[in-house]
Parts: sequence; structure tokens; C-alpha cells
Amino acid sequence: MTGRIDIVSIFPGYLAPLELSLVGKARQDGLLDVTVHDLRDWTSDRHRTVDDTPFGGGAGMVMRPDVWGHALDEVLGEQDTPAGQSLLIPTPAGERFTQAMAEELALQVCAGGQLAIACGRYEGIDARVAEHYAEQEHVTVREVSIGDYVLNGGEVAALVITEAVARLLPGVIGNPQSLVEESHGSAGLLEYPVYTKPPSWRGLEVPEVLRSGDHGRIGTWRRSRAVERTARRRPDLLVRHAPPQVRLAKGVD
Ligand code: ADE
Repeated sequence: MTGRIDIVSIFPGYLAPLELSLVGKARQDGLLDVTVHDLRDWTSDRHRTVDDTPFGGGAGMVMRPDVWGHALDEVLGEQDTPAGQSLLIPTPAGERFTQAMAEELALQVCAGGQLAIACGRYEGIDARVAEHYAEQEHVTVREVSIGDYVLNGGEVAALVITEAVARLLPGVIGNPQSLVEESHGSAGLLEYPVYTKPPSWRGLEVPEVLRSGDHGRIGTWRRSRAVERTARRRPDLLVRHAPPQVRLAKGVD
């Protein structure tokens, strides 16, 4: 079943990369239906206004709930699916977008559900928009951040989310085995380092074990490199996957 992703933005051109590469091919092959909408199509004034000054004062502008309401009523209203709908609102103030969330959303899209992404700009979208759609029976609203930094708007996050979800859909990646061992997969480790030809390059050699043909030794080597790399670069991941006593001692959870 083909699910769909709808992205609403005041800069639809920002989402043009979704026509390229794996996501573009998945769309062409009918594995995924992605539609990009221009928020300004739902404005009603001559200037096509989408924002206004914040109540309570402060810098910048806030996106108006009435314009977003018209847009999202239409985008979410087109769909009536038992697989449900997720409305994602990218914001640096959101919960962290993770591989686990991408997997959850891919399952929903794959079952014929809908993923809508509302890209805010300026100081963000009036908070009542998230509140209102969270009250709708078939809609799950999630405000998500793709990392601890501030972007100019939700469009880059929408690209990130769409790619992370699309590549998990059946048929999108040529070799599904490549999904199995990658970083942030179920083992909770970063991926081991990889090498290809030539075996010697600028005085640097490919580790001998990888050319040994001994798959037992190769597996052991890769796992220990993955653990070592994770311990050095992302010790938080090791702690998160550690036994409950260790997590308790480190104050995780
Ligand atoms: N909009 C601005 N910054 C963002 C971030 N880090 N994640 C998601 N959306 C954003």
C-alpha cells in the first residue's frame, strides 16, 4: 500500500531535492506519494499574509493559526485511513527526532497512513495549532527537533525526516541488508569503519582482517570497532543500551 507525505511550507522550492536520488526514484516508482503545498495558497488577503506580531511582545513574528488551520484542515481532511495520520511540526523546541521515530512513521506510511509536516518560519507557529490537531481523533501531533541547533525554519528538518522515513519503506533501498547494520539501528551502536579498493592508498592500508575472508574474525573485528567508536564519539548511546543497573547508576531514564 502506498502511504503519503504532505509538506506545507511558505518556501515549497526548498523541498525540490525530494525529486532527486532515492526519494525522487521512490516517488517515480509509485512507492511513495509526496506532495509539497504552498501555505500562502490558504491566505485570503492581498498580501498573502501568514504571520503577525507575538502577543506578550518580543522579537520576530509568529505564524497565524487561522492560515495554518485552513491549510491543515484540507491536507489532513483528504485522508480517512485506519492507519491514522501524524502531524509533525519541526521546531528546535521539539522532542528529538530519532531513528526509532522514523521507523514508527515508516510503518504508518507503509500501512497507508499519512504523514503531514508543517514547516514553520520566523518565531514559529501559534501554539494553538498543535493543541487543536492533537484533539482530533485520528491525528497524532509531534513537535520534533532534528538536533540541538537553530535553523531558519522547518524545511530542512522536513527534508531530513522525509528521507529518514522514505528509505525505510519496502523497495526504496535496493539492498535491504544495508538497513540492518547501519548506525542507530537496533544494536544501538555507531557503524564500524568501512573500506574499499585500493587496498593501499597514500600509505594507509586496509586492515588485514577484512581481506582474510574469515567471516567470524571480520564480524568480531567490526563489532569491536563499532563499540570503540561509539564509546569515543557517543558514550551516551552505550549507557542507554547498558543493563538497568548501569543506567540507574548513571542517572539515565
Ligand atoms: N526549526 C528550526 N530549528 C530546528 C531544528 N533544530 N529542528 C527542527 N526544526 C527546526
